[in-house]
Amino acid sequence: MKVLVIGGGGREHAIAWKLASDREIEKVYVAPGNGGTALEDKCENVDLSTTEELINFAKNNDVYYTVVGPEDPLTKGIVDDFEKENLKIFGPCKKGAILEGSKAYSKEFMKKYNVKTAEYEIFNDIKRAVEHLKNCEYPVVIKADGLAAGKGVVICNNYEEGKYVLEDFMVLGSLNKAGKTIVIEEFLEGIEASILSVTDGNTIIPFISAKDHKQVLDGDKGLNTGGMGVIAPNPYVTEDVFKSFEEEIMYPTLKGLKSEKIDFKGIIFFGIMITKKGIYLLEYNVRMGDPETQAVLSLMETSLHEVIKNTLDGNLHKTKILWKNKVATCVVICSGGYPLQYKKNKKILITKPKEKVFIAGAILKENSLYTSGGRVLSVVAVDDTIDKSRKKAYAAIEHIDFHDMFYRKDIGKFK
Ligand code: AMP
Ligand code: GLY
Repeated sequence: MKVLVIGGGGREHAIAWKLASDREIEKVYVAPGNGGTALEDKCENVDLSTTEELINFAKNNDVYYTVVGPEDPLTKGIVDDFEKENLKIFGPCKKGAILEGSKAYSKEFMKKYNVKTAEYEIFNDIKRAVEHLKNCEYPVVIKADGLAAGKGVVICNNYEEGKYVLEDFMVLGSLNKAGKTIVIEEFLEGIEASILSVTDGNTIIPFISAKDHKQVLDGDKGLNTGGMGVIAPNPYVTEDVFKSFEEEIMYPTLKGLKSEKIDFKGIIFFGIMITKKGIYLLEYNVRMGDPETQAVLSLMETSLHEVIKNTLDGNLHKTKILWKNKVATCVVICSGGYPLQYKKNKKILITKPKEKVFIAGAILKENSLYTSGGRVLSVVAVDDTIDKSRKKAYAAIEHIDFHDMFYRKDIGKFK
């Protein structure tokens, strides 16, 4: 079988690699892919971007199914477009993708279906929003409604900070359309976890949990990023936490999807907060996480191809997903300056790394890899304990070098 993966980051490299490991898969096309998928066994990059190009490619190349990596095409309705052409595609329809695309919609959905989440109010009108801030307990969380590339959530410590953010989002339009509607939400104190899951709309199966490290500097300091590293499973997700998550968040979500008749054959990524008051849902994403995927798929024993095939056929209830009883450490290596300005086009030297390297922001030119993004690549090591796997991951980084590279030294180091 030939399959197509849409996207070009580290997540898509990991998805393509995992799919390619299945004997039934003959070829994984990746659009547009990156330097890593260019080199990966059985994978081939294809330079396509518009939905029309992708649909034509899938039709003309006997593509059995397509997997969508990032949220952008999902929120634009690529799944509906493929399905209109009778092409199989893994991901939610446009209506399902709003769970990630709109914070206001997702909070209303959570409330309607009793998914445990922080208290909130939604505003379209700045005056009313500012008035509300006067009566809030601080800190408070302000969230822009639409997709905002990670810039749409601000924790405000007092009224002045809150008012400034509201003006920035709602009046000055710093996030364009994204901040015209906002959610003001109760601040939750706790530890975050990422739990991916797969659903065919009738059955939902959680993946192994993961712990992202979002800040750019050691000790969770500095600016927010897409993710600087991951430990899976997340050591804070105990059996009790997992049980509460399933009962108070995951199953109510599935019930909501069914009641709303949302056609969802894909991934739901639950961003949760583990607090003293219980387990809360912070957000839905409707795609795999990056870099969560690199760590989580490294532990998946079952074939991802099998899981996707069964999901698309509505047979997820017959599927069991098995996991290695091990720990994965993923460390992301970035270009100096990330998440702000950084240089590109630096040659990457990798000398016999012992662990798996997933390429994110790098392209292949004349048989060498050159940086093309802020998060350049990640190294994933798997071993029996956090300690052993993180040591292996950091040892492998010794074999990687490019100008101005940096990475967090404390991935998986918990107090
Ligand atoms: P979100 O996109 O909703 O996941 O928010 C991005 C980040 O903001 C989360 O990963 C948390 O670190 C933080 N955050 C969001 N909502 C809350 C909340 N209610 N309380 C505390 N932190 C939050
Ligand atoms: N690593 C967080 C995300 O993919 O949204």
